[in-house]
Amino acid sequence: MRIYDIIAKKRDGYELSDEEIAFFVKNYVSGEIKDYQASALMMAIYLNGMTDRETVTLTLEMAQSGDMLDLTAIDGVKVDKHSTGGVGDKTTLIVAPIVAALGCKVAKMSGRGLGHTGGTVDKLESIDGFNVALSPEEFIRTVNKTGICVVGQTGNLAPADKKIYALRDATATVGSIPLIASSIMSKKLAAGSDCIVLDVKYGSGAFMKTPEDALLLAEKMVTIGKGAGKRVRAVISDMDTPLGKNIGNILEVKEAVEILRSGEDSDLTQVCIALAANIIVLAFGIEYNEAESKVCTVLKNGEAYGKFLEMVKAQGGDVSLIENTVNFRKAKYRKEMLSPADGFILATDAEKIGSASVVLGAGRATKDDIIDYTAGIILHKKTGNKVQKGEVIAELFADDEGRFASAEEMFMSGFIFSEKEAERKPLIYKVVE
Ligand code: URA
Repeated sequence: MRIYDIIAKKRDGYELSDEEIAFFVKNYVSGEIKDYQASALMMAIYLNGMTDRETVTLTLEMAQSGDMLDLTAIDGVKVDKHSTGGVGDKTTLIVAPIVAALGCKVAKMSGRGLGHTGGTVDKLESIDGFNVALSPEEFIRTVNKTGICVVGQTGNLAPADKKIYALRDATATVGSIPLIASSIMSKKLAAGSDCIVLDVKYGSGAFMKTPEDALLLAEKMVTIGKGAGKRVRAVISDMDTPLGKNIGNILEVKEAVEILRSGEDSDLTQVCIALAANIIVLAFGIEYNEAESKVCTVLKNGEAYGKFLEMVKAQGGDVSLIENTVNFRKAKYRKEMLSPADGFILATDAEKIGSASVVLGAGRATKDDIIDYTAGIILHKKTGNKVQKGEVIAELFADDEGRFASAEEMFMSGFIFSEKEAERKPLIYKVVE
């Protein structure tokens, strides 16, 4: 078999065999196949697509290219969730303790922030002492003891994806549905859970800009998961606007704790309830309405909050910060953003607001940047809200005062004002079963 023939076959629009896909993945990881050849194949896939069978095979080969987590030592139903990336998306911090409080086992590997989107691991590390680097034995022991543990991805999880993703990033081939689906699902399959709920975002802050494209991606990922014998659902949710009101690591932990304590209704609470209820449906085979009612109960009666405290304690985090969030470190500088006009907010562009938060220091512009956990944004107004000229629409926070000028400009470019009220979009577009 020759990589040259595989590239030519895909270039000409033919379907690759399982053997050809396996040959590519194995030999690219080992270095036999060169980056320029893999790039050509990625572009051919980008242009000509992949069938469901090809996508499932590619995913399984990538999943099996490194460690496959064995969670059989954990009793009970192992569940996972994955978001395709968003701004202000702290859903894992809320959903994981909810479903753990209802008896699911959450043995979760999460990622760091990427581009304008945040990552759960960075958020958890903003809690002093919180350890996301447990050994596999400690990870399993913690899940068996508390029902929940969230750690960073191990170095050898789906190494084929790591290599292929870096190549796609540099060759304008990220935005291909079969390639995104196989990239995400290879890591989910290697992470070993029985049930997976995917939060597929659409809108300005997401990879998929339209709900129709998000639906195609969601369907592809559900097909892959089922093909691999998993119980999978996808919830398609809006990411035109940041989720919730806080963006930035400590700020997002604080907002998640507020919701876990109060169960207060908000866009964030609604997405969390939908994700958690779908996990419960998959885990226990009950009807959605019953699952939703159980989720609301543990959110309101403090059991989900109690699980969050247990998780923080078990992973070495300072529980007193969660109990008294006013004690979290605060940014040295704060600046209010004011509405330039009377009227309504027509759009709060998630990508621009997420990028402004990165400029403030809440994310990394390069992979070696150090995060300022105190940096970020609190939104006081969002799409659809009425505003008066001079009213505070947001507060910006950073330890480095020099970051405000460009962050402010980026932030304000994301706010669109209008005399007319904005049309409301549904928060949840669809659930793919
Ligand atoms: N997230 C991933 O892990 N992979 C992609 O291709 C896109 C988003």
